[in-house]
This record gives sequence, structure tokens and C-alpha cells, in this order.
Amino acid sequence: MSTLAILTAAGSGTRLGRDLPKALVELDGVPLVLHAARRLAAAGVVDRLVVTAPAGAAAAVRDLLSTDPLVGLPLEVVDGGATRQASVAAGLARAGDDVDVVLVHDAARPFAPAALVRRVVAAVRAGHGAVVPGLPVVDTIKTVSGGERDATSAQGSERAAVTVEAVTGTPERAVLRAVQTPQGFERALLVRAHAAGAARAAADHLAATDDAGLVEALGERVVVVPGDEAAMKITTERDMHLAALYAGQVA
Ligand code: C5P
Repeated sequence: MSTLAILTAAGSGTRLGRDLPKALVELDGVPLVLHAARRLAAAGVVDRLVVTAPAGAAAAVRDLLSTDPLVGLPLEVVDGGATRQASVAAGLARAGDDVDVVLVHDAARPFAPAALVRRVVAAVRAGHGAVVPGLPVVDTIKTVSGGERDATSAQGSERAAVTVEAVTGTPERAVLRAVQTPQGFERALLVRAHAAGAARAAADHLAATDDAGLVEALGERVVVVPGDEAAMKITTERDMHLAALYAGQVA
């Protein structure tokens, strides 16, 4: 039996504001997708890698990863889909019966430490069908309902219109976790979860933002293991600067 890692790299990275897809943007001279693949390989628990590539970039991604001595894993590159969920489904279609554990990891988290990857796989192999790394939340989180323009402040001293949102609740902070990737699954469970949620994959406003959410929707148990700050997600230019702090420090 073997462990397959699906590395999602097909996003456009609009919020980063570069000409390149985010996964190909370089940090410390190395594209994010290569950083992420190196960390997965360094964990020593991944047998095979499937990467979801941005439109038109499959060959470039294959060249980049297949020639890197620090990756050195059997590799397939597939075209990504319209949403992250669709991209993961395309990768999952490459997992045959020889695969019993699937990791799903985002190229947008280039510095997930090897120990974190091992922790997730170990928890799946210990019998937990769906495992996500998570960190306690430091901010107080509010739930809100749709925004509306505040006419009052438009007439106030600053003369700036403000969008206000009505607060609908304050979840108890102690029970919140900010979840990361890699997320780990028994293959059969993840296949079932993606099949059941397939209708959501076509559109951003419906699609699952993580794979554990699809498992939860089945009513199956998902567990959290401790995450790691180094597995932070890169979305904005500010995140690139923060992530640079971890480059070279994370094993
Ligand atoms: O856009 P966001 O940063 O949330 O994407 C999370 C991860 O999913 C990224 O690594 C991105 O490349 C990947 N993705 C994908 N296919 C899409 C959209 C995002 O593989 N259609």
C-alpha cells in the first residue's frame, strides 16, 4: 500500500497581483510549487506525487519538478480544474487501488515542515480516516450577514462611505481551529466524499475550500492534529515577505 500526495498548484493567484500563476512565483529563487514538493518529499512518507497545473503550464511544472534532485518522487502532472475542488478531483482520479492514503496539499503553503507531513500521515495510518492540521485561533471571530453601505458615515466628518455587516454571532474561541494543509485521508473515504460533492466543483461560490469539508458533508468524522505556523498560506504580497522568514529555516 502507498501514499499519494496531490499538490494543488492550478490557481491563478489573482490576489498576489503577479503576471505568473501563484505556484510559479519564486521565493528565494525557487518557485512556490517546487518548495512545496521538496517539503513533501523530505518527509519520507510520500510515495508518489500528482500536481495540478495551471492552464498551459503542465509541461513547465513537469520539467521543474522532475529534474529537481530534492523531489525525486514518481510524478504526474495533470491540468487543474475551474475550482480547487475540481483540481483535487482531477488529481484523485490518478490514485489507483495501490494507494491507501491520500494527502492533499496546496502549493500556496510552500513551507509545511516535514514533521507536519509525517504527523498527518501517521494519524491516518493510526485509523483516522480524515485528518487536518490546525492551529488555535488568536483573534476573536465573528459571523456576519451580507454587507450594506452605511449612509450615516457617508455624511460624517470623513465623508467616506463604509460597508457595514451585521454581526450574527461570536463562536467560542477555544473551540476554533484555523486549518492548514496537507490534509490526509483514507483514499476510499476521499473518493466517496468527492463523488458525493461533485456537483459543487464547477463554481467558486459552491465549491469546497478544503477536502475535509466534503468528508464532513458526508457525516463522517474528521480529526485535527497540531498544525505549524510555517505551513502558512501565501495569498498576498505581505504573505510572501512573511513566508521568506521560513525559507531555509524549515526542515
Ligand atoms: O486560491 P487559493 O490560494 O485558495 O488556492 C489554494 C490552492 O489551490 C493553491 O495551491 C492553488 O494553486 C490551488 N488551486 C487549484 N485549482 C484551482 C484553484 C486553486 O489547484 N482552480
